[in-house]
Amino acid sequence: MGAEIWGLDLSKIDDTNIFQIIKKTFFANHLLVIKEQTLSPDQLLSFSKTFGELDIHVKDEFHHKNHPEILVLSNKLDSKKKPVGFEDAGRYWHTDMSYTKIPPMASILYALEIPTQGGDTLFCNMQNAYDNLTQAQKSYFENLKGIHSYEASFTGLTSANKYRTQLTEKQKNSLNEVEHPIIRTHNFSNQKSIYANPGFTKKIKGLDIEKSNKILSEIFEHSLNEKNIFVHRWNKNDLVMWDNSNLLHHATKYNKNEIRHMLRTTIKGTVPK
Ligand SMILES: [Fe+2]
Repeated sequence: MGAEIWGLDLSKIDDTNIFQIIKKTFFANHLLVIKEQTLSPDQLLSFSKTFGELDIHVKDEFHHKNHPEILVLSNKLDSKKKPVGFEDAGRYWHTDMSYTKIPPMASILYALEIPTQGGDTLFCNMQNAYDNLTQAQKSYFENLKGIHSYEASFTGLTSANKYRTQLTEKQKNSLNEVEHPIIRTHNFSNQKSIYANPGFTKKIKGLDIEKSNKILSEIFEHSLNEKNIFVHRWNKNDLVMWDNSNLLHHATKYNKNEIRHMLRTTIKGTVPK
């Protein structure tokens, strides 16, 4: 998992062949790190849109003020001491917005300011995790559906933190529980992967909670194994994009006296099948 690109200035490319190479490299490696980028929000959006239409995150208070398609992840405060971004987003294993009917195909995160220590992003390869299941597990999981909910990540039922930035009533009302297959086939590569995550997968449909928790724990223990995990240590101006169909990710803590300021876009996907 993972490929790194150096020496490419995304703000200056207008050659569709290069975008095709970037896409191919991305789908072959699930995770792409493009180094040393200097992009305006408009340029970030225009690069993101070469992959498709963009999604908009439910936490609208952290949208970029001129571009709702950009979610600001930051611990900066504005002149009224109000946070300008989502500070504690994603500090648990998850795949972005799996609590929506059509979760994003990919996410792009662009680092404008980074702390000297911490704030790494961990990635887990769920295609690899699927490949390493026994045949009996593959057959059993194939017929299961997971119930995903954004609220699950706030209630502390899973590995998430119940003390983090809460949802407003309006935001809660805009969200429903959704179900997705536990084994997902990638829309582009046709490879199978496990599509469940501790952050948002609340339970397995049709099973009592004890059995459901047992199976989910078995899946997460099997998947979140160091042989499936890659740690990205950020440099300023890294642009990282990952495939939400077959990777989980996890943000980590950092020293809050230092600034971590990033911009995120998400590219619309397809209904998981
Ligand atoms: Fe995330």
